[in-house]
Amino acid sequence: MDAAEQSSALIARLGSQKVIPILEIENRQSATDLAKLLVDEDISVIEVVLRTGDAVAAIEIMAAVEGCCAGAGSVTTGVQFAQIVDAGAAFAVSPGVSPAILEFALNSPIPILPGAMTPSEALHLQHHGYHFMKLFPAGSAGGPDYIRSITGPIPDIAFCPTGGVNEHNLPSYLDCKPVLCVGGSWITPRHAITACDWSGIRNRIRATRSIIDQHARSRS
Ligand code: 3PG
Repeated sequence: MDAAEQSSALIARLGSQKVIPILEIENRQSATDLAKLLVDEDISVIEVVLRTGDAVAAIEIMAAVEGCCAGAGSVTTGVQFAQIVDAGAAFAVSPGVSPAILEFALNSPIPILPGAMTPSEALHLQHHGYHFMKLFPAGSAGGPDYIRSITGPIPDIAFCPTGGVNEHNLPSYLDCKPVLCVGGSWITPRHAITACDWSGIRNRIRATRSIIDQHARSRS
């Protein structure tokens, strides 16, 4: 799969869901219940970040749940890349791109959402064929206004902003044309996962869905 095909595959998959929950899972034993809950709530695409000891095991468990498309986030090294491919991750997300990550990405059997924050980084990725990128950290970079600024001179790219996106600013990101979806931990906060607070997570998903629906209605 070349870089352009990777981007197109992720646009089709992530773009249709609009909000991608970012999950930090401390205990693999909660992975099955969590994946089933998300799939039940029509959240099929998720990103599990490699910031806990159980993350790779959790990806393997969640990828085995029917209907769950489990990607790996915070991928920053080639070693992690190999691990998540072995675990059955459906896609990889990186906060930025080093030469090593790019080399793995360009030879990847799974699609990658590579991170960019500056015009130079976006141009670098575009040069290699990527047209769909993660913008991280989106809030600190300047949010939707920053995305509009960066896509003025570089119009043929689209973003999944993450980092600082939440239920309050979600509509302003969805208003931004180059934003095909956003990622965030607010729906599935680490403390709620650790406490197995499934009803709390269900409520957060439903509240987010109503924001997305309301936003879509206001645009039609
Ligand atoms: C990421 O991994 O993209 C971010 O850490 C998620 O940021 P958030 O916790 O602000 O949603």
